Amino acid sequence: MSKLNECLNRIHNASLPDLKDLERVLSLSGKDELNELFFFADDIRKEFCGDGIVLRGIIEFSNFCFRECFYCGLNKNNRKLERYRMNKDELLKAVGYLVSCKIKTVVLQSGEDSGLDTPWLREIIREIKSSFDIAITLAVGERSALDYKVWREAGADRYLLKIETSDEGLYSSMHPQMDFKQRLDCLRVLKELGYQVGSGNIIGLAGQTLKTIAQDILFFKLNDFDMIGIGPFIPHQNTQFGGQEKGDALLSLKTIALTRIVTRNAHIPATTALGSLDKDYRVDGLKCGANVLMPNFTPQPFRKLYEIYPQKRCINEPVGACNFCMDDMAQNLGRFIDYSKADSFKQGRVNSNV
Ligand code: 5AD
Ligand code: FES
Repeated sequence: MSKLNECLNRIHNASLPDLKDLERVLSLSGKDELNELFFFADDIRKEFCGDGIVLRGIIEFSNFCFRECFYCGLNKNNRKLERYRMNKDELLKAVGYLVSCKIKTVVLQSGEDSGLDTPWLREIIREIKSSFDIAITLAVGERSALDYKVWREAGADRYLLKIETSDEGLYSSMHPQMDFKQRLDCLRVLKELGYQVGSGNIIGLAGQTLKTIAQDILFFKLNDFDMIGIGPFIPHQNTQFGGQEKGDALLSLKTIALTRIVTRNAHIPATTALGSLDKDYRVDGLKCGANVLMPNFTPQPFRKLYEIYPQKRCINEPVGACNFCMDDMAQNLGRFIDYSKADSFKQGRVNSNV
């Protein structure tokens, strides 16, 4: 057994892996070693998640945001961005189309929109759940415990709230007026309410080190998240971080691989950001641990306005286009698209029919 193989087994089997081991693997650069890492992660993915590639259809229903995150194109200080909020009919029509494409999970995503009315979203959730047999994931940011409860009781199954970085100092440095502890509190409440909870990070943030990424992976392990989204940073010209370097594709892939090895059966998407660099690295992501794709179902003209970062993939495509290319991607990998709701693999939290 090679030294690397020993190290990967140690990481995989530990209840809490050693930070130094994780850092060492994140620093690998030799071709053979990288292949060994990626094969190892792919084996774990196969053992714990199987060969199905799970689909999560996203509808980005509002790009209003009152936050000022230094990396995000939706931040409120980006006055060049035309803002939109889809109405109920537009949103339900987009959901209907997604359902007609056999997708069984809709992710309702928006910026942190202070105009997002709690009962309005509750009614949308109710209508979707009474019309269709699909799971609903919400991704609308930090809200009150009561809002989370109302939406959960209306039928929402899952919630995505990425930690972005688990380093409190780094988090504070790029999230003005936001509180790391508040975010942890939101995650705790969401879990208590029985949501399947998703977290994740951005790779390549200014000030991030291999150590902070290794800590992110431990954070994912400790919190036993149902889903973990990992994507490279892509600079947006109308943000404080507009002049920074792009996140590194290889480091993002190493993080995906290690997260798979450590968390075993979390759902891990090959993110849109990973597909928006110089080439489409989503395929590489699917080969080193990822098991989820997220086709975009936001209708035009809204889709091109949800510009979190530039050159976002599929931003000019018509609705539905993503779906076709995903079947091809799965076939080329010798895998298949799993058209089920694909609830969490974590025991005791399979609850989308509650
Ligand atoms: N580059 C990459 N990912 C970004 N996000 C926001 N801005 C950027 C960027 N410039 C990610 C964050 C957020 C998700 C919706 O998009 O992780 O949670
Ligand atoms: Fe909106 Fe960060 S500025 S999510």
